[in-house]
Parts: sequence; structure tokens; C-alpha cells
Amino acid sequence: MFNVVYRYCELPSFLRRPLWQFLHSLLIKKDQGVEITFMNYGYQPLDGTQNQPALHERDETNRVSIQLYHHVAAGHGIEEAGISDRNVLEVGCGRGGGASYLARYLHPESYVGLDVSKRVIAFCNTHHNVPGLSFTTGRAESLPFPDGSFERVINIESSRCYSDRLQFFREVHRVLKPGGYLLFADMRQPDELPTLNQRLEESGFRIIREEDISQNVVLALDQDSERRAGLISSKTPGLLSNSAREFAGVQHSRRYNSFADGSMQYRAYVLQRV
Ligand SMILES: C[S@@+](CC[C@H](N)C(=O)[O-])C[C@H]1O[C@@H](n2cnc3c(N)ncnc32)[C@H](O)[C@@H]1O
Repeated sequence: MFNVVYRYCELPSFLRRPLWQFLHSLLIKKDQGVEITFMNYGYQPLDGTQNQPALHERDETNRVSIQLYHHVAAGHGIEEAGISDRNVLEVGCGRGGGASYLARYLHPESYVGLDVSKRVIAFCNTHHNVPGLSFTTGRAESLPFPDGSFERVINIESSRCYSDRLQFFREVHRVLKPGGYLLFADMRQPDELPTLNQRLEESGFRIIREEDISQNVVLALDQDSERRAGLISSKTPGLLSNSAREFAGVQHSRRYNSFADGSMQYRAYVLQRV
């Protein structure tokens, strides 16, 4: 089980979806409230507390996951790529914590969160009631929107498991307006990176900025591991706790070590539709 979780994205796609649903339902089985609204490894600025967004008290628990969203959606400091006053689509929104944060703090004109899982979209519709924010089910590889519908597309820690990543990038290109931005972050093994950049360019994107944020992710996990481990022990059956720790990237898990030693790299991109 432990290996299956670690190598999850290398499984054939017909096995990935049921396994993801199984793992997801186990992780959140006892989560009746909104305790788990993010499913990413987080981001912590390397210069300590500088450049951290100010958060309301109720958002502090999810600080490192919010900071990943903030860093990506603010266009990594490239002001014109930001999402304020823009029509935004997020692909792979999960349990909607990032969508809710961005809609409340960065004030897009509208924000649609899309995910392939009906279960997480039902959760989002129940728990995130924010003006301008809506959720829908759909597949990244065939987005259910007309051409040129959005000015920004956000995609965080979701693309690695798509069955056809080139098709996903082509779809994002299609639904973006000319000149629009894809704000994208995910992990890859170092030998996958040239193919990733090639696919982005083949789909019609100009790489405006590419950043290795692996060490920011390690710092985030250092900061958040205790909370993650606590959630796992309260919500996951003991037999599966090692797999869940792996899934959550707690300190000294294989996933955590892979970011620390560079065998897995976490990249963040600002990409402009040509
Ligand atoms: C690791 S979670 C990240 C969720 C969210 N971005 C976050 O950071 O909290 C990955 C999400 O991608 C979704 N996903 C996986 N394959 C997908 C696909 N083909 N189309 C749309 N969403 C997909 C999963 O259902 C899951 O909710």
C-alpha cells in the first residue's frame, strides 16, 4: 500500500481514479466540518516571515497551503499576470480552500473551480459560499467551456496525474483569451522537466517565469508536519496511517525526502497564451 501511494501517478489511469477516490474518502471520512479544505504540500518563503500574506485568524491553520496559492495566483510578482478583477478558472480545485481564499482576498471578477471528483465539488458547493465563486465537475482534458472564456487559469498540484497532459495544456490554451495567463505549479521528476516545458511550448504558451520552489515546499512541510500528523492520527485508521503520512508529505516521509534531496522538484510557472 505504501509503495502504491508513493507511485500513485505512475499507475495506469483506469486504476488511479478509483484509488484516489478510496484514499480521499479514507482521509476525510471523519471530517464532517471544513478542517481539510486543501490537498497540497504548501509554500513557505525562504526569507522567513517576510512576504507572507496577512490572514484572518480562521485561515491561519491553512497558512502554508494558502501561501502556495497566493504565490502562484499573484503571478510570482509579475503584476500584470495577477488575478484581481479577472475571470478565473481553476482546474483541479479539490476541496476548494484555495478557490475560497483567492476569491475572498484577491478579488477576481469571477472564479470557477472545476474538479473531476463529484464528491469534492459537492463538498465545495456546501462549504464555500463566496460571492462570485462557483464550482463545477469536469475533466482537465476536455474543459466544458467555450473558447476564450477566461483571462486566467490556475492549476495547482493536480496535473501530474492527468491521463493526457498535452491535451490538458491545449484545452487551457483554448479556453483562455489571447494574452491570458496560465498560473501553474506541480511536481515532476527532474528527467520529466524537459518534456513538460516542450509540451507547454507546443500547446502555445510562452514561459514568462519558471521557478524551482522545492525548498519552499520543504520549509512548508517542516512547519506543517505536526498538524498534518495530528489530522492523520485523528482521521485515518491506524493500518493506513503510514500511507496517509506519505500522501500528506509529513517530515521524513519518502515524498518529503524526495523534495529535500532534489529527486522530485516542485515547479511554479507563469505562462502566457500566445
Ligand atoms: C492533490 S489534489 C489538489 C487540490 C487543490 N489544487 C489543492 O491544492 O488543494 C488534486 C486534485 O486534482 C483533481 N483531478 C485529478 N485528475 C483530474 C482531471 N483529469 N480533471 C480535473 N481534476 C482532476 C483531483 O480530483 C484532486 O481534487
